[in-house]
Amino acid sequence: MKVFSYILDIKEFLQSRKTLGHTIGFVPTMGALHEGHISLIERARHENDLCVCSVFVNPIQFNNPEDFKRYPVDKEKDMAMLADVGCDIIFMPDHNEMYPEPVLDVYDFGALDQVMEGKFRPGHFNGVAIVVKKLFEIIEPDNAYFGEKDYQQLQIILSLVRMMNMPVNIVPCPIIRDPDGLALSSRNALLSEHERSIAPAIAAILNESASLAGTMSVTALKSFVRSKIRAVPEFRLDYFEIADGTTLRPVKVWAASENIRAFIAVYLGKVRLIDNIKIFL
Ligand code: PAJ
Repeated sequence: MKVFSYILDIKEFLQSRKTLGHTIGFVPTMGALHEGHISLIERARHENDLCVCSVFVNPIQFNNPEDFKRYPVDKEKDMAMLADVGCDIIFMPDHNEMYPEPVLDVYDFGALDQVMEGKFRPGHFNGVAIVVKKLFEIIEPDNAYFGEKDYQQLQIILSLVRMMNMPVNIVPCPIIRDPDGLALSSRNALLSEHERSIAPAIAAILNESASLAGTMSVTALKSFVRSKIRAVPEFRLDYFEIADGTTLRPVKVWAASENIRAFIAVYLGKVRLIDNIKIFL
């Protein structure tokens, strides 16, 4: 496994492999790796000649400075996990390497950026788009792997790639969960023991909402979920939304779309957790 910190070095190395006709699978991450990330790496490894993983906590996608300060970092453990799973290349740049000067690009993702994470975390997706575009320009991957855990991010990236005519295939990957249902997330490491013990209720409520879909109106289901969340004093709901899985526009009636998902964002203490599920009617 090779570890690169500098853009010119990794570009030169990857160029030499590309001239041999090798394909590149890329997994961008912010580190504090878990089995969710590893599932993406495994897939990238199997579907490409070379697997590249980037580890960079991107400051400009944090709308809340406290969240950035608290974000878990463990580079040694990340490298050990990546070596174990057979990742070929790690790209671990520092802040100056990625942002020698501030990037002021402003993207317009239309309605995609006006709901849910886009609405509750202003500027977040613009910061994600800036770093992912930069990383794509550095790595020039054939395939890039993104988890459905961050479903809205995945739609934003698909839109970015179309908007910029980028020659990369985006591969969506399913959500990996702990056995108790909690979606794996780097932020789970920040939960206290007590918070961790009640966190699986988020996935349980989401699952329940999916099984109730169609038996009551969308509005009734939304208030049902809100009351379930309110019943847990440690939870503070940011949003629960039922939306079209492609446009992410809120859905008012079940018949409005054949691809409907339920989305949730909940604060547990200071930790904000998100999850989503496909609804089969
Ligand atoms: P990060 O939160 O580290 O996630 C990196 C990738 O792992 C994302 O595509 C995310 O959706 C995926 N992932 C996280 N938890 C997962 C789970 N439980 N199951 C499946 N996939 C999961 O997302 C980011 O970093 C950043 O925004 C980034 C794209 C790297 C840009 O900075």
